[in-house]
Amino acid sequence: MIIHTSGPTQHNNLVPYPFTGTRAAPTAARPTVIWLTGLSAAGKSTIVDSLNPVLQARGLTTCILDGDSVRTGLCRDLSFSAEDREENVRRVAEVAALMVEAGLTVMVALISPTRAARKLARSIVGSARFVEVFVDVPLAVAEARDPKGLYRRARAGGIAGFTGIDSAYEPPEFPELHIRSDEVEVQRAVRMIDDWLLARG
Ligand code: ADX
Repeated sequence: MIIHTSGPTQHNNLVPYPFTGTRAAPTAARPTVIWLTGLSAAGKSTIVDSLNPVLQARGLTTCILDGDSVRTGLCRDLSFSAEDREENVRRVAEVAALMVEAGLTVMVALISPTRAARKLARSIVGSARFVEVFVDVPLAVAEARDPKGLYRRARAGGIAGFTGIDSAYEPPEFPELHIRSDEVEVQRAVRMIDDWLLARG
């Protein structure tokens, strides 16, 4: 795998070498980035965790890029400001693009709250191999779940700019898949994504 940038760089004096043959050998399934977006506690990580063995059982090599995890490493310098969230999305999309180029099936679980950032991610990865999955849940349900106690802390004023409380979440207008995670069991959500991938071929 050759690492290169997907777009214009802000640095001068960089001339990426025009490597050839960086694509992975073709496999039966088309490498894809499955991008899950939704509120915190919508169920993105849970769905991805259950989807992973299903895809692996079909012979796919997979990778998971999850917000809470990437923010401890790749993106640990980033805050939850609007600018840093966009940078978080951009970095993860760049990594996902490299991975998908190498033949992996990549599952991304990021709130990725803005349409602009998700559009950027799609353009970095390439629309043909980008599947946007909206994991949709009413705020009240996410708040009632509150597995990390973060909504409670945000309501109490302990976290500024928490998505859904005092920072906006822009629902996707045209996601490839729309999953109502309060109405659909996890295994059914997994089936919906897997069926979509199989139907696409
Ligand atoms: S994103 O907005 O930049 O896409 P990301 O998916 O990486 O977010 O991280 C979301 C996780 O960070 C949440 O599940 C939650 O555990 C934690 N978190 C901490 N602070 C915030 C905040 N202000 N808004 C949303 N999530 C937060």
